[in-house]
Amino acid sequence: MGAYHFVFPRWSNALLPTIAVAGAVVPLYVVAMVAYGFSPLTTDVGYQPIQPVDYSHKLHAGELGIDCRYCHNTVEYANKAAIPPTQTCFNCHTQIHKDSPKLLPLWESYETGLPVEWIRVHDLPDFAYFSHAAHVSRGVSCVECHGRIDKMEVVYQHETLSMGWCLSCHRDPHPHLRDPALVTDLAWGFDFSDEVRRAHGEAFNHKNFDSIVPSTDCSTCHR
Ligand code: HEC
Ligand code: HEC
Ligand code: HEC
Ligand code: HEC
Ligand code: HEC
Repeated sequence: MGAYHFVFPRWSNALLPTIAVAGAVVPLYVVAMVAYGFSPLTTDVGYQPIQPVDYSHKLHAGELGIDCRYCHNTVEYANKAAIPPTQTCFNCHTQIHKDSPKLLPLWESYETGLPVEWIRVHDLPDFAYFSHAAHVSRGVSCVECHGRIDKMEVVYQHETLSMGWCLSCHRDPHPHLRDPALVTDLAWGFDFSDEVRRAHGEAFNHKNFDSIVPSTDCSTCHR
């Protein structure tokens, strides 16, 4: 222990008991989380579960350029963005890499008729109401809430999804709006300055008779 006195400033000694307590409690917390599986409320930015298939968005959405809506085909008109059934993968994989060991869980799903058990990454508590269609159809891109999915080998949560985060955009949406034709082009506008982004959003809203006015009433998200 003695050596630490040379490394840390004197005040840090006062923190040592706190650090020791945190050190003892944090592992218990993690064990409890795993044991009881209460992930929805406790998970946060960076949450990145290991999926049952080594599926890469970086390869499929990024390099191969498959549009998000090819797989998440309800995202423009429903609350939920559908997770694709095995059949969607087999549109290509009955031909491409069909003998790859990485695709074994897909074949198993095909034979049993049971879906692949993808692990949910983003999960709001049930008392919060959310709709993809309300956002995507009004020009809020996937990238605003999910980050550069097209660069992720394995998907992780990019934003807090907290109430404060929702509200900060609802109060000032313009920097986050674009033409809905561009919502799945995640690279669009990444090199724009803040002023240019805002100007694009304002121009787009103006074309819609300034009708895009996200609500901050409690009942919008708690119904
Ligand atoms: C070829 C099909 C396919 C394409 C194309 C695709 N995805 Fe996915 N996506 C999946 C599958 C399968 C999962 C579930 C496994 C996982 O999380 O990686 C998923 C998961 C996700 C998740 C996490 C869902 C959760 O559990 O919270 C997000 C967000 C997502 N995709 C966004 C996108 C975006 C944005 C694009 C376009 C840039 C896109 N996806 C393109 C198949 C696809
Ligand atoms: C539009 C065609 C297409 C669809 C749909 C598609 N893939 Fe692929 N996938 C490819 C191509 C092409 C490659 C190979 C790229 C290469 O090897 O250069 C690939 C590679 C893979 C690999 C790596 C295989 C290996 O042995 O390296 C996995 C795993 C995979 N895909 C899973 C999936 C899953 C799961 C889905 C459905 C959610 C899916 N793919 C949907 C075209 C597709
Ligand atoms: C305004 C923010 C926002 C935008 C824009 C957005 N998402 Fe989401 N997405 C979320 C939230 C929040 C969740 C978790 C929803 C829940 O738990 O009910 C989610 C969940 C998902 C899921 C898991 C299934 C589901 O619906 O719960 C997928 C897949 C997904 N998003 C894909 C996409 C794609 C693809 C786009 C763009 C076309 C997109 N999202 C645009 C916020 C957003
Ligand atoms: C990046 C900006 C952005 C973020 C982040 C965002 N929203 Fe929105 N939201 C909007 C816009 C823009 C609209 C469309 C407003 C309109 O049509 O006038 C909208 C509309 C909605 C609506 C539809 C209201 C109606 O009248 O049907 C709901 C519900 C909603 N948002 C909930 C949420 C929740 C919950 C979150 C956080 C998990 C969230 N939003 C995060 C921009 C955002
Ligand atoms: C734009 C969407 C949105 C609006 C508007 C909104 N909330 Fe929320 N609220 C959320 C989301 C999303 C959560 C869950 C956040 C989380 O999981 O951390 C939440 C969580 C809460 C919670 C649980 C405690 C917490 O902070 O996590 C309370 C209480 C709450 N909201 C009350 C309100 C009240 C009161 C209003 C009106 C003044 C309101 N909300 C307006 C989206 C919203």
